[in-house]
Amino acid sequence: MNKRRDFLKKAGLLGAFTASGLPAWAQTGPRPKRMAPYVNFTRDGLDFAPGDYARLLSEIDKATPIEPDSYGNGGIIAQLEEKIAAKLGKEAAVYMPTGTLANLIAVRQHSRPHRRRVLVQAASHLYNDTGDGAQLLAGLNLMPLRAGERQFTLADVEAEFQRAVRGRVRNEIGVIAIESPVRRAHNQVFDYSEMQKIAAWARQHEVKMHLDGARLFNMPAHTGISVKEYAALFDTVYVSLYKDFNAASGAVLVGPAAFCEGLYHTRRMFGGSMPQAWPFAAVALQYIDSFEQDYRQALQQVKQVFDGLNGYKLSALPHGTNVMKLEVRHGDPAAIRNKLLQDNIKLPQPAADFPGFYIKVNPSVLRRPADALRQALAAAAG
Ligand SMILES: Cc1ncc(COP(=O)(O)O)c(C=O)c1O
Repeated sequence: MNKRRDFLKKAGLLGAFTASGLPAWAQTGPRPKRMAPYVNFTRDGLDFAPGDYARLLSEIDKATPIEPDSYGNGGIIAQLEEKIAAKLGKEAAVYMPTGTLANLIAVRQHSRPHRRRVLVQAASHLYNDTGDGAQLLAGLNLMPLRAGERQFTLADVEAEFQRAVRGRVRNEIGVIAIESPVRRAHNQVFDYSEMQKIAAWARQHEVKMHLDGARLFNMPAHTGISVKEYAALFDTVYVSLYKDFNAASGAVLVGPAAFCEGLYHTRRMFGGSMPQAWPFAAVALQYIDSFEQDYRQALQQVKQVFDGLNGYKLSALPHGTNVMKLEVRHGDPAAIRNKLLQDNIKLPQPAADFPGFYIKVNPSVLRRPADALRQALAAAAG
């Protein structure tokens, strides 16, 4: 274990949640009787409380003084941009305060006069969760495809292309934005083979490709395709800093050097340049290198925990990533959830469509040995 992981471990910020602070949820929910290490099945990451961040930043700064940025430029932010660009095989990267802004700026920059249509999944964050920002703030026309499904196909793209070029007024497709994993589809993935076909078509037609890869680093463990291979199909990619990498907020947008050059002006124009963003980069940099390995280990551990465990049935979703279906064979899921909260294990609210939970797997499960987790879960179901 290297020096960095050593101090994370000592501080309880890698494998174990130490007793110095409860996670935020526990301040309003039932309080655990014992301070067993906190395990959550609700988030993509470790679910740090404010006290954890305070301790972590102090440890990081003690080990190597953090070089602050200025309005999101330079210092440790530049270090983070460089690292993420290299991991995704792109020339450059720009820090963004949110994924919402990263997606907006990406599609805005890619669009051109007479090419203001953007193809998106109807289920995408860009279409559903941004207050129509691309329409209102960038004057783009988002074309939602395949409502209720996780992905669209090349045939859908071609059909929209034909509709656009045959219209009375010329207004073609400038960008295809793909989200994967798809949050509104329980983090299932968009098929790589379909992405490849769409990307080849886009190149031929001079249409830009943008990937909302908020949780991109979850995909390789399930598909065997590396983050670099995914990124290679796209002109630009956004990755979240707070989903897999445990920062309190933040995002990074990667792409060609010419695309990223001077993009901080646009970030500022949209009110997205915080005077100091270093705390987000400092935390994300602690986890980015080990996330894929930690996540694979977490998947293994969860399999082991639920394998033949009385009272539960765990199944992966087709095309799934970190969201899994945990059926409860007998007993009331809400009661089981409350019991586990007493033991510092957090399950999500019960599912609406079956007795059980859509759990999220993340490295917090590594804070307890598989046997201990198994015992706690068995006792709650018993
Ligand atoms: C797939 C996806 N894209 C974009 C975002 C937006 O990220 P942010 O909260 O940083 O704006 C989210 C956040 O939930 C998301 O799940």
